Amino acid sequence: MSNRMWGGRFSESPDAIMEEINASVDFDKALARQDIAGSRAHAAMLAKTGIIATQDAEKIGDGLQRIKAEIEEGRFSFSRSLEDIHMNVEARLAELIGEAAGRLHTARSRNDQVATDFRLYVRDALDEIDGQITALMLALARKAEAHAGTVMPGFTHLQSAQPVTFGHHCLAYVEMLARDRGRFADARARLNECPLGSAALAGTAFPIDRQMTAKALGFSRPTANSLDAVSDRDFAMEALAAASICAVHLSRLAEEIVMWSSAQFRFVTLSDKFTTGSSIMPQKRNPDAAELVRAKPGRIIGALNALLIVMKGLPLAYCKDMQEDKEPVFDALPSLSLCLAAMTGMIADMQPNEAVMRAAAGTGFATATDLADWLVREAGLPFREAHHVTGRIVAEADARGLELAELPLEVLRKLHGGIDERVYDVLSVDASVASRTSEGGTAPGNVRERARHWLSSLQDAAKQTADPGQGRL
Ligand code: ARG
Repeated sequence: MSNRMWGGRFSESPDAIMEEINASVDFDKALARQDIAGSRAHAAMLAKTGIIATQDAEKIGDGLQRIKAEIEEGRFSFSRSLEDIHMNVEARLAELIGEAAGRLHTARSRNDQVATDFRLYVRDALDEIDGQITALMLALARKAEAHAGTVMPGFTHLQSAQPVTFGHHCLAYVEMLARDRGRFADARARLNECPLGSAALAGTAFPIDRQMTAKALGFSRPTANSLDAVSDRDFAMEALAAASICAVHLSRLAEEIVMWSSAQFRFVTLSDKFTTGSSIMPQKRNPDAAELVRAKPGRIIGALNALLIVMKGLPLAYCKDMQEDKEPVFDALPSLSLCLAAMTGMIADMQPNEAVMRAAAGTGFATATDLADWLVREAGLPFREAHHVTGRIVAEADARGLELAELPLEVLRKLHGGIDERVYDVLSVDASVASRTSEGGTAPGNVRERARHWLSSLQDAAKQTADPGQGRL
């Protein structure tokens, strides 16, 4: 039998391979909830505008509710010969309510239908991700407040550079994640226009009310151009671009956690909940969750690439190529959600080892810049000369196997006569971090203040987030 939905002019059934390459229901059933919501809004609009009878719209609405329940309860049988989620739902509707089902597709095409469903899916995913980023930022801000004065080595080139506070380090990620949230919010705002009513590509002659369906589905407005609406997927690209950047941020934190939790660093201890043991080496506590978060950008950036390449060079309007838009998104956005959840758990449970970090902060001549700055301030040296003198002091300390604060005053004075005992005030790691009071600097007072700023604004944001995890089918 030829296809029930579009087979009018066909006499033969598709080849088995054709069915295999063409069918998308195995993956686009993830759009079921959005598809049903879109169809309900469309049917209600068709009735309100008098395009279909109210009784038919009611039957359609009831039938769609039953189908939703069947899918949610795993009682729905998806058929590949019906190609995709849209036709699976419509065919089942016909089984349930008969002739009225055939009226649902009036003034609509699968092209505007799938564009609408996919926007709804991405929007749901972005809302979930927004709530999860907020939760991670809160976990980091809590650690930052608790450790505003916990000294650790700050690195450049992964070499000890200057002491910083652990709280400051945590807040660096909070700032990155805040920008990620901003990128997702921007993407959401641009995404939030409703394609429904664009029909196949040119709009429709039926007197539809696009404002009504847009509003019913929570969109800000209908899209302005039917060709654009059915054929662009930039909203998904943008979501994946933001997801890629966020995943890269998470992977950097993940890498630091892997390093920090190693026996060589011992800066933090991870909880049992986010580590695994080794089947052969009993001493091991492996940071698997952090390693996986470190790895996930591979697939998330891969998804962005895949979608960009699918869309590149496609003529307007809809092309079947665009069916390849979904799997990358269905893989990447839930992967990012999982990374955010795992990272939030790891951060909340993580125990910083303050003594180890403090000891490490004092090694590697980490207060050399403080010494140079002191020479500028107290001995009146130009910075370049102070840098040079400090370099010689570091070489002397290195040769003696001492840290800067351990060098006797007479040794320091031999290298520069302007030095007096007050210099020791700046050579300790605590004095170093306490002096960094410039805006955005690592001084504990700054860190505490910024952590509190985030805690209060994020707690408000978390309260306002309306049910972020509605869940997807
Ligand atoms: N499954 C299709 C997709 O995901 C739905 C749209 C089909 N439209 C068409 N004209 N064949 O792209």
